Amino acid sequence: MFETLKALNSDPILGLMASYREDTNPHKIDLGVGVYKDEAGHTPIMECVKRADALHHAAETSKTYVGPPGDPEFNQQMQNLIFGTDHAAIKANRIRTVQAPGGCGALRVGAELINRARPGAALWVSDPTWANHVPLLGDAGLEIKTYPYYDAASQGLKIDAMLAAFGQINARDLVLLHGCCHNPCGVDLNEQHWDAVAALAVQRGFTPFIDLAYLGLGLGLKEDSYGARKLAATVPELVLASSCSKNFGLYRERVGALSIMSANVPEADIVYGQMQNVARGIYSMPPNYGGALVGRILADPVLRKDWDAELTGMRDRINGLRAELAKKFQARLHSNRFDFIPHQRGIFSFLGLNKDQVQTLKSQYSIYMVDSSRINVAGISQQNIDYFCESVCAVL
Ligand SMILES: Cc1ncc(COP(=O)(O)O)c(C=O)c1O
Repeated sequence: MFETLKALNSDPILGLMASYREDTNPHKIDLGVGVYKDEAGHTPIMECVKRADALHHAAETSKTYVGPPGDPEFNQQMQNLIFGTDHAAIKANRIRTVQAPGGCGALRVGAELINRARPGAALWVSDPTWANHVPLLGDAGLEIKTYPYYDAASQGLKIDAMLAAFGQINARDLVLLHGCCHNPCGVDLNEQHWDAVAALAVQRGFTPFIDLAYLGLGLGLKEDSYGARKLAATVPELVLASSCSKNFGLYRERVGALSIMSANVPEADIVYGQMQNVARGIYSMPPNYGGALVGRILADPVLRKDWDAELTGMRDRINGLRAELAKKFQARLHSNRFDFIPHQRGIFSFLGLNKDQVQTLKSQYSIYMVDSSRINVAGISQQNIDYFCESVCAVL
């Protein structure tokens, strides 16, 4: 049977990781994989997670099944974190949340459910978007279409073209929006942009599908959830996939959540049953451990405060590096070529280099990034920032 299958090209990011590992240059820098790194280049376990782990370990008395929706405490806490406890949609009991195996699991359950409700519906994604969106959402049966988003010339947003495209979208369609910290370009919508998107969603009747994988790593927890809250206050229905991989550093534990806001309570109850049924048919139920830790951290005022502080530290480090990079490039190049870096959010930005320049950075300077010149800003540190800037200037 399997002789019918064709060999696939290996994932370029895995190849990049392997080349980086084999490189013996002591100055090598990995800017490829999308994980947060500290000043030492390490992706640490957060202190609040370690403490929650100890408490969880002491309190856990059974490993019996949890059920398709996952940990109820986690689900409630995630809903409150994203939308805010006093959000009208929460007060009206129109949002239902299930735990999922990572943001990817949440995206897939959301896509499967949409495809059940509206087979073959069109889902508009930004140009560009995270590469994995296409298989995760398209393989569920949705038709993937793209809307203009990133403007390579200005390293900003094609706001007029994007809004014009939204003005043509059908009521049957869905629009995928990055809640904050756009992957791969780092260009986010500001509050006015979100307001305009919300108005168009109402006018055209399309349904927003928000991917919120970096909450708290852009401008702050409240600021980064502006779009989700605004849309939830404006449109009748909304789908939102969130991840705790980055903001809780729980990558391998696979913690995410799918929240769906329905037009009214009876529909929300039906949707909740369907969400669980989709999950049951794919992976039955989500892994418990990571969600239990997140639920505990968010519910405990002391742990919650500590998480906030640690997350702020991560965010400040990223935004500090962004500001520093722009300054260092300005000083070396006497131009504003890299001034866009501090205006972008999250861990990613496109440097705007061509493939040859990216290749030279790798072969001659041991600086590793994907061909599109997307860098993980968090891979930069005080130890390597000057070497990085000098090397980039050298290949320009
Ligand atoms: C835009 C975006 N969405 C979703 C995810 C899903 O993350 P995970 O499944 O690891 O929680 C990621 C991870 O890199 C991402 O970048």
